[in-house]
Amino acid sequence: MIEARALTKRYGSTVAVDGLSFDVRPGSVTGFLGPNGSGKSTTMRMIVGLDYPHAGQARIGGRRYRELRWPLREVGALLEARAFHPGRSARAHLAALAASNDIPASRVDEVLGTVGLHGAGKNSAAGRRAGKFSFGMAQRLGIAAALLGDPGVLLLDEPANGLDPEGIRWIRQLMKSLAAEGRVVFVSSHLISEMANTADRLIVIGAGKLLADTTVAELSAGSASLEDAFLDLTMGSAEFRATPDTRDDGPPGAPRSDGYPSYPGAGRSS
Ligand SMILES: Nc1ncnc2c1ncn2[C@@H]1O[C@H](COP(=O)(O)OP(=O)(O)OP(=O)(O)O)[C@@H](O)[C@H]1O
Ligand SMILES: [Mg+2]
Repeated sequence: MIEARALTKRYGSTVAVDGLSFDVRPGSVTGFLGPNGSGKSTTMRMIVGLDYPHAGQARIGGRRYRELRWPLREVGALLEARAFHPGRSARAHLAALAASNDIPASRVDEVLGTVGLHGAGKNSAAGRRAGKFSFGMAQRLGIAAALLGDPGVLLLDEPANGLDPEGIRWIRQLMKSLAAEGRVVFVSSHLISEMANTADRLIVIGAGKLLADTTVAELSAGSASLEDAFLDLTMGSAEFRATPDTRDDGPPGAPRSDGYPSYPGAGRSS
């Protein structure tokens, strides 16, 4: 289980995460939702010790990340794609990670197979310099690294980013099966509709604060869609929101409430 307790992080005068507390339990996929800049990535970085909270703490299975003897065997994290040396092959990158955490070298080819980057030789996906990978391939390598130590806890920050439709379906199935095996699966996403398909539980934040700790079914109930429910919930806390297009009066030619047809510019002079 992941336990966040009153986690707080400031960057200068920006409060990125503001007294955030929640639990993420094993056995289901828990989605982590919030508008851009709401603190999702910062929270995930604090959980795995890449950022230090100003207050509060995060524990994984009752311990802080830095207290874990072989962290990759307990927690797998995909926090940013391209977290590898560009001159190394995918296989060499994973082999180095495996050695650093006393993980059997045989796991390297297993996880390369799981993410579809298998093959032998210098021209195979596994043997090529990872610096030349496309974004989606780098994302797959990041997922392979997260799975390498067969960890009971997985943190994935926007794992579907850059994946093609087949890849999105694959990661959805993968997360579900990892959760069904009794693991903790905590995944942030902008794809609300994707979360409706994948997640059971949802932690929703806005401006670094907890807005909802709920289930997909509970949040969707009473709204036309999960997306509507999400937008209603986060309305007051989005930092970046496009200015509404004041010319949007429905399809061209449709009557507006004032009776004028809504061609751009029509009736604007008054
Ligand atoms: N290294 C940093 N230095 C300064 N400010 C930062 C840093 N990292 C994050 N922030 C700020 O902290 C806030 C939260 O950012 P964070 O990246 O955690 O949000 P997010 O929810 O992951 O957003 P997104 O959906 O765009 O990925 C933002 O205001 C951001 O500008
Ligand atoms: Mg982020």
